[in-house]
Amino acid sequence: MCGIIGIVSNKPVTSNIIQSLKKLEYRGYDSAGIATIVNGNIDEKKCTGRVDNLEKILFKYPSAGFLGIGHVRWATHGIPSQINAHPHSSDEVSVVHNGIIENSNQLKKDLEKKGYKFKSQTDTEVITVLLTDFLKHFDLISSINKTLKKLNGSFALGILIKKHKDIVVGARRGSPLAVGYGPEENYLGSDSYALKSMTNRITYLDDGDVCILTNSKIEFYNSKNQKVNKKVLTLSNDKNTAEKGDYKDFMSKEINEQHITTKTCIKEYVDQLRQDINLYSFPIKPENIKKIILIGCGTAYHSCFMAKYWFEEMMSIPIEIDIASEFRYRKIKFDKKNLYVFVSQSGETADTFAALDLCKKNNVKTCSIVNAVESSIARHSDFVLPIHAGPEIGVASTKAFVGQMLVLYILGIKISEIRKEISKENYLKKINELKQLPDLIKLTLKCQDKIQIIAKDFLNAKGVMFLGRGFSFPIALEGALKLKELSYLHAEGYPAGEMKHGPLALIEEGLPVIILAPKDRYFEKTISNMQEVIARGGKVILITNENRNVISENVRFTLKIPNADEYLTPFLMTIPLQLLAYHVASLKNYDIDKPRNLAKSVTVE
Ligand code: F6R
Repeated sequence: MCGIIGIVSNKPVTSNIIQSLKKLEYRGYDSAGIATIVNGNIDEKKCTGRVDNLEKILFKYPSAGFLGIGHVRWATHGIPSQINAHPHSSDEVSVVHNGIIENSNQLKKDLEKKGYKFKSQTDTEVITVLLTDFLKHFDLISSINKTLKKLNGSFALGILIKKHKDIVVGARRGSPLAVGYGPEENYLGSDSYALKSMTNRITYLDDGDVCILTNSKIEFYNSKNQKVNKKVLTLSNDKNTAEKGDYKDFMSKEINEQHITTKTCIKEYVDQLRQDINLYSFPIKPENIKKIILIGCGTAYHSCFMAKYWFEEMMSIPIEIDIASEFRYRKIKFDKKNLYVFVSQSGETADTFAALDLCKKNNVKTCSIVNAVESSIARHSDFVLPIHAGPEIGVASTKAFVGQMLVLYILGIKISEIRKEISKENYLKKINELKQLPDLIKLTLKCQDKIQIIAKDFLNAKGVMFLGRGFSFPIALEGALKLKELSYLHAEGYPAGEMKHGPLALIEEGLPVIILAPKDRYFEKTISNMQEVIARGGKVILITNENRNVISENVRFTLKIPNADEYLTPFLMTIPLQLLAYHVASLKNYDIDKPRNLAKSVTVE
């Protein structure tokens, strides 16, 4: 998704802007651009495709300038093209924008009546033109305030103004924005990751804030236009985990390091000496929780789905799940005794944040499970549980999904222990089993070679189905999503028992069908569903446990994952599905770390 960088320095900034834009590439984007002030004029350069293309343009036509803004765009209004790429500049003003201006059509019409002409199809250009117009009649601060007042929707902005050639302006409403403090230079960025290569001292803007950066100071104004001081945070240094090392791409590193990330996470939450889970100060006493509602989007929603299945087994209270983009607009009956849990890797997903905000406005207690602990969702929740997975750079989520499930599982065990819904003995047993998880994941990762062979079968597939029951159903959903995202194949996850109610119609000769049938209470039933698929010509890939022998001549491949406790099996089931998506995409030569149309941090609605 879109990303912003701004730098004001006492030396040329172009190359640092380009390097920072490269850090933002993980978010997913389709075009890039930069603007600096050179000899008193705005110098804008933009292109479609990668930041590398922009770098080539700058090599040919260098752009000096001691201050500038840069952007990677993920198209919302208008196709990906050079004209629609950001920045959008007039002679006076240049703007980069994350978010969506909902009333842009009306504003455009009003400005056209005044004689202004528009070059692009974007909503952003209205900001450029509005500000240009106000600057003709008002001073800088009034012009910015008047412009922002006119905008409906969400935005994070970076602005250059020709008349004010020593400053970069930032503004935030709804989309995240941070500033960073450097030596004789200051920075603006849509996430701290991009700023981290330059500084670890940052401040997050709150909604409604405007900031003005020079190379020696940063001033903040709140939504009431009052000058305010803001806290400077020091970011932790997790640089190593953001390097690819010997891996071909980040995704393969992130899949293959899951035994390490889960170990780190377990260490953070499980007290090895006391054999206890370190979770205290719940926003509602677990004994008093009436209902738990788990909310997320995409992969994060699937981890909520998984938690619903676990929690229902472990607790006597109702467990609901919701997709954030639906939750935020429904007539939810809020209850102060309910716990609302938000799951988000980035902690910046606009829909999840809006759902959290709705909960806050209704005075109910919130808990968030995030990877980015400095994110907006974390900062606005009553209770934050980090997944300790380290930065996830591959746009498609892998280690974060496993981390989200892990923290949800740990939370479930702890709540049920406090509620006395599981015995002390069972609690200790679960903790002990949990400690085996990293080794089990390491063992499961050994299926890589087999998956590479299986993946070849998918090259000419029209579509793929993933079927599972019980704990395997949410994993089937996630397996299908991963394959869709990376290999652009149509894939569906279904509860195996639901096939006969319609979807069997999709099974035809040669259609690959992944059957998730671990050794659990559903095993025989799932195998019967598998036979229904085989009878209709489906090409079955069966994933089961090592101690299961399924005799069926017509199963094309059987893949065995290590035997494990029923509750831990979903973690292991996930691994071959991640690897499958990875290898199918790799055989097709697709961009693994930046699959098309997928964004790492979905900061628009
Ligand atoms: C899938 C994927 C997306 C995200 C979703 C939520 O691989 O990356 O489906 O899971 O956009 O993102 P977060 O977890 O950042 O809220």
